Amino acid sequence: QKGGWDSYMDKEIHEDPKAVADTLLGRFGPEGELNLDELRIDPEDIRQVDKIIIVACGTASYAGMVAKYAIEHWVRIPVEVELAHEFRYRDPILTSRTLVVAISQSGETMDTLMALRHAREQGSRVLAICNTQGSTIPRESDAVLYTHAGPEIAVASTKAFVAQIVAAYLLGLYLAQVKGTLFRDEIHQTVDSLRAMPSKIEWVLDTQADTVERTASSLVDAKSFLFLGRHVGYPVAMEGALKLKEIAYTFTEGFAAGELKHGPIALVEPGEPIVVIVPSARGRGTLHKKVVSAIEEVKARGAFVIAVAEQGDPDAEEYADVVFWRPACPTLLSPLVDVVPLQLFALDMAKSKDLDVDKPRNLAKSVTVE
Ligand code: F6R
Repeated sequence: QKGGWDSYMDKEIHEDPKAVADTLLGRFGPEGELNLDELRIDPEDIRQVDKIIIVACGTASYAGMVAKYAIEHWVRIPVEVELAHEFRYRDPILTSRTLVVAISQSGETMDTLMALRHAREQGSRVLAICNTQGSTIPRESDAVLYTHAGPEIAVASTKAFVAQIVAAYLLGLYLAQVKGTLFRDEIHQTVDSLRAMPSKIEWVLDTQADTVERTASSLVDAKSFLFLGRHVGYPVAMEGALKLKEIAYTFTEGFAAGELKHGPIALVEPGEPIVVIVPSARGRGTLHKKVVSAIEEVKARGAFVIAVAEQGDPDAEEYADVVFWRPACPTLLSPLVDVVPLQLFALDMAKSKDLDVDKPRNLAKSVTVE
């Protein structure tokens, strides 16, 4: 059942490329346009949407945070991302023009289910992004966009995360198509870039796994890890931190690189391992410069820096102690590759500690209580 892998988590990380490819399948018309008839929402209703609220928990909420950057950029409407268990209790502003997007791998997370029920009671439309056919969350939603990651058995979510990002991106591009906020060529280009992602993920799995494994075994005694990122690298940092804490029981914190000087830098002492998601040096150059200067700050205080950076980035080469390389890709798509070495890293750390990676202590695959 594990298809020759030591664990389901191992197997499922190696299914990241397929999860991305399969989630893209069958969602385009003959002209390459997005075809999401499966949503069964009238395009006129889509044009009316003036705000999106994404509700989710844990890893799914980080996929939502990634999607916020893309959807706001493409569709020019505000996107809020809220932990489902916080959402309901703050009396959120919901109207018939608000689209609530509930992201859930299992489709059974009670917190997310309660949030969507609340949204529907207030007259908002709910669209589920879900990996499990026929589960409760899609059944109770107005529309559903399935991720096609296949069954996820390991408790820690891996392939579902990349599939959730892809599904949310398809939704964003579809909204942009219907609302006319992107040109056809821009949509086509992004779709082409999305289609290239499975082979880029494959490249990371094939070429970076050894470095990741060596790094994990050299850091197995580290007491804590910090993860930092900016823009879409910020939720990736949060996700990398979550994976490591839940599988390897290591204390981790993920935060926005810009916050460093507002507090977390006090934690940095010689030897502290810090994982930094470095944006591409192309395009959004200033972001790259800022993250590199964060690396310099922590290096100056003796941190051990592991960078996730674009192939050929000379600054990563110069300042980081170890680099997990990513092949060049558009910034908004980089989370799909950047999370992969972090998933492997958590797996390798847990294995070095001889832990059960598929069934971490105290956790259940789906959390069906509030
Ligand atoms: C982390 C993890 C959890 C889930 C969260 C939501 O690896 O698996 O954080 O992402 O419990 O679960 P779903 O997506 O099933 O609603």
